[in-house]
Amino acid sequence: MAFKRHTLTAALPYANGPVHIGHLAGCYIPADIYARYLRSKGEDVVFICGSDEHGSGITIKAKEEGITPQQVVDKYHKIMGDSFKEFGISFDVYSRTSAKIHHETASDFFKKVYDKGGFTEQTTDQYYDEEAKQFLADRYIVGTCPKCGNENAYGDQCEKCGTSLNPTDLINPHSRLSGSKPQLKQTKNWFLPLDKLSPQIREFLEKHPEWKTNVTGQCKSWLDSGDGLQPRAMTRDLEWGIKVPVEGAEGKVLYVWFDAPIGYISATKELFANTATPEKWELYWKDKESRLIHFIGKDNIVFHCIIFPAMLMEHGEFILPDNVPANEFLNLEGDKISTSKKWAVWLHEYLIDFKDRQDVLRYTLSANMPETKDNDFTWKDFQTKNNSELADIYGNFVNRVLVLTNKNYNGIVPEASEYTKGDLLILEEVSKIPDAISSSLDKFRFREALGEMMNLARIGNKYLADQEPWKLIKTDEKRVRTIMNIAIQIAANLAIVCEPFLPHTSARLFKMLNISPLKWAHAKNTGNISTGHKINENPEILFSKIEDVEIQVQIDRLETIKKERAAANVSFSPAKPEISYDDFAKMDIRVGTILEAERVPKTDKLMKLKIDTGLDQRTVVSGIAEWYTPEQAIGKKVSILVNLAPRKIKNIESKGMILMAENPQGELSFVWPEKDTTGNGSIIK
Ligand code: 2FM
Ligand code: ZN
Repeated sequence: MAFKRHTLTAALPYANGPVHIGHLAGCYIPADIYARYLRSKGEDVVFICGSDEHGSGITIKAKEEGITPQQVVDKYHKIMGDSFKEFGISFDVYSRTSAKIHHETASDFFKKVYDKGGFTEQTTDQYYDEEAKQFLADRYIVGTCPKCGNENAYGDQCEKCGTSLNPTDLINPHSRLSGSKPQLKQTKNWFLPLDKLSPQIREFLEKHPEWKTNVTGQCKSWLDSGDGLQPRAMTRDLEWGIKVPVEGAEGKVLYVWFDAPIGYISATKELFANTATPEKWELYWKDKESRLIHFIGKDNIVFHCIIFPAMLMEHGEFILPDNVPANEFLNLEGDKISTSKKWAVWLHEYLIDFKDRQDVLRYTLSANMPETKDNDFTWKDFQTKNNSELADIYGNFVNRVLVLTNKNYNGIVPEASEYTKGDLLILEEVSKIPDAISSSLDKFRFREALGEMMNLARIGNKYLADQEPWKLIKTDEKRVRTIMNIAIQIAANLAIVCEPFLPHTSARLFKMLNISPLKWAHAKNTGNISTGHKINENPEILFSKIEDVEIQVQIDRLETIKKERAAANVSFSPAKPEISYDDFAKMDIRVGTILEAERVPKTDKLMKLKIDTGLDQRTVVSGIAEWYTPEQAIGKKVSILVNLAPRKIKNIESKGMILMAENPQGELSFVWPEKDTTGNGSIIK
């Protein structure tokens, strides 16, 4: 079915942290590519997003940062909005769920479903923290995931295996507020009867066999698991959120996953609110000829494919999603991206180190998009993508076109006269590129589409390398005119088709070609730039090389984070059982000085030391070779247990033991008296 218009939504990110590469690759880049592509084709599009500002994630963050929830959302709404803008994510509106229009819209939605009898009222046992005097909804409670055993699963979801949970599903639940074991307490909430709606939901999903298999797979396992779909509470006993707009609901707010997707509708209202046609939002949400597409990451699948459609069905006035092309997760250097573990590349930080290189990141993330399975981002690959693809192919081609046109023709596009057979084949290939890209994008295959876009740059680059106009200019200037004309046309088409993927680059290329941006349909033509047109002088380099040192800085940063995490994770061994003073007093510990030191051959750790103990000079074998060289050891003051029975170590008689302090990482360090006047033989007690 041909649609008249497109309502594209990108998941509303929680306003409790900055945006990182996982967000971009999972949802915002594919959504943006698609929105830009449709606009370029002249389609009627609204591209909707905003900050998700409710839910326990926000209030928990507020507690951590010692500020109010409102301050948290104000802070991150701004940071996230700025990052999206910087990276060219072309939302038509970036709203927020704390906006008045959203509170009204979500409230009205709830009221309408409530009035129709679309909710069931149920009093159930919910976990309650007696110390904090609060019900423990969603992220306020943690415990062991019944599915995968993750000990840090939240009350609403296990982030490790993605399973959606209820607090009562958790094994060993405990409160994140007080750490205490929560008690069950009865409370009333309003539930969406997913059980009753199950046949409708199945029918809706069955109408979409074209959806991605990772999406339908998750939906099926939800529908078919255990007892099938169960009623789900749409209200919570919390303070932060949208008040439940019915009587008897004091102290309760809408469940964040009830209000957030309605945020798409409120944001669309906001988009048209101050225009001559404020009611136009309705077309995008109510007209059957509008195509609703949700771009999300895999942790949002059930909410967009089952719960939100169920809400829309109960409400009755809105269209249902036509597709939900969810992506899987992006990992970073082989490990799961995690904000709490600081394992991420945040966009605002990336821009400090890679100023004006937004498109390089867009390109790398598109090329590695986790479309069908989780994928990995590595800094080395980022460098290769920039240096060997963007710079060597795309940038090199464009630079040659512009430099040669300026040099040989003063920037005036020369006339093509006779096309060779080879030229005609190239032109035919070039004209097929936009359809090849379209065919991939229409199926949400972004990596494939990006590859087709780069093929055009490859065609252009190879054409110039094969034709060598820089050599030919000396012998056949007329032929060079044709070659350059063709190359300029390819560059113009590249500017068109790369726009959805590399919008900043496209704008710069159009500017260098000195033409206004052209739309998708033009990319099928191979004569978009007229003979005699003057391009801009002094072309700029589109992609400069990224040096190894720049990449090393990033790798080192991640290494430091890993080390810090490892250090924080290691714990000291527990205290030993109590001993008497007499036990302690049996030990004769003295101050000594290392006189000689040499490694014990064929061992990694052992060093043979000669020690002046004040009583005598003796040999001690000590396991310090990993931490000190003999040169470092000689002359050091140490503490030595002198009355330890002699032992043979590697055939050396060791008399006594050097005392060493060991940190949780196993690093050893000498223990010595603070004052220089504490000479050899002094007693340590
Ligand atoms: O996972 C998240 O970040 C959620 N805030 C997504 C919400 S999408 C929608 F429903 F608004
Ligand atoms: Zn799990």
